[in-house]
Amino acid sequence: MISIHEFKTAKEAGVSAAALVADVVRHTPDAVLGLATGSSPLDMYAELIRLYREGSLSFAGVRTVNLDEYVGLAPTHDQSYAYFMHHNLFDHIDVHPENTNLPSGLAADPAAECARYDAVVSSFGRLDLQVLGIGNNGHIGFNEPSDSFSKGTGLVHLTASTIDANARFFASRAEVPTAALTMGIGQILSAERILLLAFGEKKAAILKEALYGPVTPQVPASILQFARQVDVFADEAAMQVIHG
Ligand code: F6R
Repeated sequence: MISIHEFKTAKEAGVSAAALVADVVRHTPDAVLGLATGSSPLDMYAELIRLYREGSLSFAGVRTVNLDEYVGLAPTHDQSYAYFMHHNLFDHIDVHPENTNLPSGLAADPAAECARYDAVVSSFGRLDLQVLGIGNNGHIGFNEPSDSFSKGTGLVHLTASTIDANARFFASRAEVPTAALTMGIGQILSAERILLLAFGEKKAAILKEALYGPVTPQVPASILQFARQVDVFADEAAMQVIHG
């Protein structure tokens, strides 16, 4: 089931999205949260930090699994997703560092690292809430358009469109990693609840395709039509094609 929540701005959506996450954590203090990086969750993370600081929310029992990490970037690299998570959330709340998980971009054996990460994800036995952004090409996590839906964590080669989109975070396009480790579509779909964040006109066309088009691995986010419960938090700009 898909519920769409539309907001005037991404900021307002982020505040409401944080309220949804906070509800899950208050209801299930040892919740397993699947987390995303990128620009979409930034306002939500800022609001979660504010709720923690005002004393109305604790992450002390929460476990987290992040969707993905670039191959080749150390956690200290300022564009690694490990760095992003510490900088934008973990270092500012009371989550225990040992309860936070990301795939390692530096693993010498990516296949072994994917197997390790699959074991971490399945050791929790549940995924209470999965936060997602959506790529301009419909990717979720770093599951790029493909001929099949992936099940578990895998090594993926990023498409030119994703490398272009992410070049804004690096000094030059040449510095953008070309591969990543990502949780699979099967793992994402196992979540009890999914929170999809989509902001800005660049997401408008793909959001409509994902939510109302055919379910196909060429638009990985289209599989969300088969998820248990999806809450889409979008701003007006991202909703403009859906409204027609
Ligand atoms: C990030 C991730 C990606 C992003 C997507 C949208 O962990 O898995 O799928 O969610 O590329 O990125 P932004 O939010 O920067 O538009």
